[in-house]
Amino acid sequence: DQNLKKFPENFLWGASTSAYQVEGANLSDGKGPSCQDVKELPAGTASLDICADHYHRYEEDIALMAEMGFKVYRFSIAWTRILPQGTGEVNQAGIDHYHKVIDCCLEHHIEPLVTMFHFDMPAALDERGSWSNPESVEWFENYARVLFENYGSKVKYWLTINEQNMLTLVGPLIGTLHIPEGCENVIKETYQQNHHMLVAQAKAMVLLHKMFPEDKIGPAPNISLVYPASCKPEDILAAQEYNAIRNWLYLDMAVFGRYNNLVWRYLEEHDATPTFREGDEEALKAAHPDFIGFNYYSTSTVQHADADEDLSPGADQQTARGEAGYYKGFNNPNLTKTEFGWEIDPLGFRANMREMYSRYHLPMIVTENGLGAYDTLTEDGKVHDNYRIAYLRAHIEQLKLAITDGIEMMGYCPWSAIDLVSTHEGIRKRYGFIYVDTTDEKVGTLNRYRKDSFYWYKKVIASNGEDL
Ligand code: BG6
Repeated sequence: DQNLKKFPENFLWGASTSAYQVEGANLSDGKGPSCQDVKELPAGTASLDICADHYHRYEEDIALMAEMGFKVYRFSIAWTRILPQGTGEVNQAGIDHYHKVIDCCLEHHIEPLVTMFHFDMPAALDERGSWSNPESVEWFENYARVLFENYGSKVKYWLTINEQNMLTLVGPLIGTLHIPEGCENVIKETYQQNHHMLVAQAKAMVLLHKMFPEDKIGPAPNISLVYPASCKPEDILAAQEYNAIRNWLYLDMAVFGRYNNLVWRYLEEHDATPTFREGDEEALKAAHPDFIGFNYYSTSTVQHADADEDLSPGADQQTARGEAGYYKGFNNPNLTKTEFGWEIDPLGFRANMREMYSRYHLPMIVTENGLGAYDTLTEDGKVHDNYRIAYLRAHIEQLKLAITDGIEMMGYCPWSAIDLVSTHEGIRKRYGFIYVDTTDEKVGTLNRYRKDSFYWYKKVIASNGEDL
């Protein structure tokens, strides 16, 4: 369509992974355990000691990404490879490993986009209270300094904390963020931990800008625009509440350094406003992201919930279970679902970008988007994942429309570059362009196979998003 704008020339096409889900070698070469390594795994899911064995096969994997034409590779650094205890001694083998990964990307003309923290708190810091300990701010800042000192001259793009909002909303499900036993005000405790993460993030942004003024850094929340279930005014208010709690709190803080007013009121109503330490307010105000990274899988829909409604806890990452008096989750009847029950909403992707851009006016990069599905490897080594192609195509079409809307989009990094272990549903729930021969039950050959989506995405990148 000639009315559509083209993707910018330097658009960053690529894809994403995270250390604990893809690397394996989770206790090798001096790496300390993270909270993921000590948690009880969901029944029947692959252990984390091998995953896709990316730790040993990153060269092969990055070569495959280069073959697809990647301009960027988003991966996370495992805190526990760099600082096995979270603080204190630096593990040189871990530092060396990521130098090799970064150099390998650069040799292939792929920009590394590094997530500093992706759900993998050092277990040693968990024992010291994790994010509930106010010192966690200093732990993270120290870790950030080590990263920047070592890689700041090579890595131009940084992401702070992956999906801090999901950690706050459903942390225990992901295996991160612990509520101490006997805690009397869970909301207060949760948002105090959240506050520490926000201050830690702000300090990391300031530090990077001081050490490497040319480098760019941004947050990476999971943004899922919240629809009202109907045009009933009560539902509109409910959607505003949940939008604030689920989405805007995190970006208002990262961009403006202030608490969203609706969230603050909600916290006041629960006697749960976080305690500020001296300097927190200034630290939050001093930080400015260069761009916004965001993960998008779907939208959410809510309706009003009465104050006396009984809303039993659920574990759905996408749909709000709700809070009596505020909102409750609603299945959007206009959307289909993936095999794993996640709503599919490409148009919502455009709406999401419009809303974010009108609020923050910063360039944005999609740091995750994708379809988790069961894939079948055929006898001749193929994976016919036309469903994944259909999902990604529909989303890239909307991305193009968003660019036509005048939104500054820097890049697109779907989840995931290569098959890896999902947060709680094992490796049977696959997202990659590259199939990894292994199952939840048994470690396989770990050989790599190009899925149909691999060839399709290669063509998309080669045509800079014109040939979908
Ligand atoms: C995001 C996370 O929540 O979604 C990833 O940043 C995760 O770590 C991805 O894997 C897909 O979710 P899941 O639960 O299917 O693995």
